[in-house]
Amino acid sequence: MEVSPFVIIPVVLVVGMIAGIAIGLFLAKRASTGKSDLVMIGASTVSGRGAFSLKAIHEGDIIERCPALEVTDQDIGGELLNYVFYGSTENARLVVMGNGMLFNHSSTPNVAYYREQGELGVELVLYALRNIRKGEELFYSYGEEWWATRV
Ligand SMILES: C[S@@+](CC[C@H](N)C(=O)[O-])C[C@H]1O[C@@H](n2cnc3c(N)ncnc32)[C@H](O)[C@@H]1O
Repeated sequence: MEVSPFVIIPVVLVVGMIAGIAIGLFLAKRASTGKSDLVMIGASTVSGRGAFSLKAIHEGDIIERCPALEVTDQDIGGELLNYVFYGSTENARLVVMGNGMLFNHSSTPNVAYYREQGELGVELVLYALRNIRKGEELFYSYGEEWWATRV
């Protein structure tokens, strides 16, 4: 059976367009970073500002992927010392953007994090250690060493 080019060409164009949109959405999703609809900053229950859940979060869920800038300890001083994370080497420090920089400390945290090399650069990935209710303050542990160097 012979199929008319007037049928084939529009079909090929439509299929190509749908495939292009799907690939674009997939790549945009993979590369996206630094946006969270799960976190808001508000008055902390322990100190100044803190991070709070906007929705119920399940154990293991990623809460936010924070874009981060790795610098050396020589770039960091004053109050900024209290806002940066340790980096990939002894002298490296991570300046974390998004909401990630404003989480307060708890020795019984509901959040933990790991560092990841994302497509667009280094990220700090925050995830839930347990189920978290809407409105709970979010804490990670700064670690004993962090507090030991500040008392
Ligand atoms: C990364 S900041 C957290 C955001 C900070 N609360 C703010 O308002 O900018 C770290 C600072 O918050 C305070 N902080 C964090 N967790 C705390 C806690 N559990 N108890 C008392 N102060 C805390 C300490 O002053 C620490 O130097």
